[in-house]
Amino acid sequence: MYRFSLFSLLFLCSGWLVAQTPWETPADRKAKLSTVAFTEQGQTLGKELYQTNCKSCHGDPGKNNVIRLVPLPPDPASVQLQQNSDGSLHYKISEGRGLMPAFKNVLSAEYIWDVISYLRTYNKDYKQQLAVKPTAGGEVFDKVDLKLERDSGHSGVVVQLTGMKGALVKPIPGLEVKLFARRYFGFQVVGKPVDTNAEGMARFEIPKSLPGDSSGNVLLVAQLSDEELFGPVKAESLLAIGLPVYRPPLNEQRALWNVGQKAPIWLLIVYLSVVFIVWGFIFFILFQLRAIFKLGELK
Ligand code: HEC
Repeated sequence: MYRFSLFSLLFLCSGWLVAQTPWETPADRKAKLSTVAFTEQGQTLGKELYQTNCKSCHGDPGKNNVIRLVPLPPDPASVQLQQNSDGSLHYKISEGRGLMPAFKNVLSAEYIWDVISYLRTYNKDYKQQLAVKPTAGGEVFDKVDLKLERDSGHSGVVVQLTGMKGALVKPIPGLEVKLFARRYFGFQVVGKPVDTNAEGMARFEIPKSLPGDSSGNVLLVAQLSDEELFGPVKAESLLAIGLPVYRPPLNEQRALWNVGQKAPIWLLIVYLSVVFIVWGFIFFILFQLRAIFKLGELK
């Protein structure tokens, strides 16, 4: 009893100490802004994400029905929460502290922006400030685009990075591109990241041993290493560039899920005889019971 109260006292104190320390955001993260405008669509998704991931602690916004933790999780509609910059909210939700979980491995960076766009609907004075448009080498673009193709004349693939500004389309040099191959579970990194050259191209050698499907097809995905710069920019291509690998379908060999066709005859005979014998006994007992009942009626 004594020990228990000592521990709970320590626990409460640690919570209280954290509550006394303001939660600071590093300056670069504080200034971060979303590259995507907050729309009704994002807010609807954000609301769903909030209800599954946050409501249990932060309650219904504006109702102040938060869970009694130390420190208290602030109500999303409160000044305490809303005074955070967009970047601060993104940082705190991503990294967490104490009882506030880190969501960076649960929700993607974009999903966290959707949640923030929903939280901001409880702040009438809020006006979204968008991140500046994508810049590369001092130039501002409306949009950037990646293309992934077979490298004609070579054994690898080539990734083309272009920036668009109005009607102008220009290659972007000097940015790092990563290449992945889609696997059963997740993605496999292929080779080292490559910087785009003066023509905005990054060439990747594909190892001869890269396994594909039975015709050698591999789904390749190219992505800019620096997601912060332009948001998620990706290109996907299904290319017959891998080593053909035959993967037997799950029901090809004898297995639990194809009992009927593949069970050996002796097993079927043993199984069916056991079933007949057991049911035979059951019916035998039922008939005996009926006979006893009939005998009783005679008297
Ligand atoms: C297990 C309970 C719990 C869950 C789930 C949770 N939070 Fe929190 N949250 C807290 C607590 C406790 C704090 C206070 C942390 C502190 O100050 O050290 C907090 C703090 C915050 C803050 C910082 C507020 C400020 O003013 O500094 C934000 C923003 C926040 N939560 C958003 C969210 C969002 C968005 C989600 C869902 C994606 C979420 N929280 C899920 C418990 C939770």
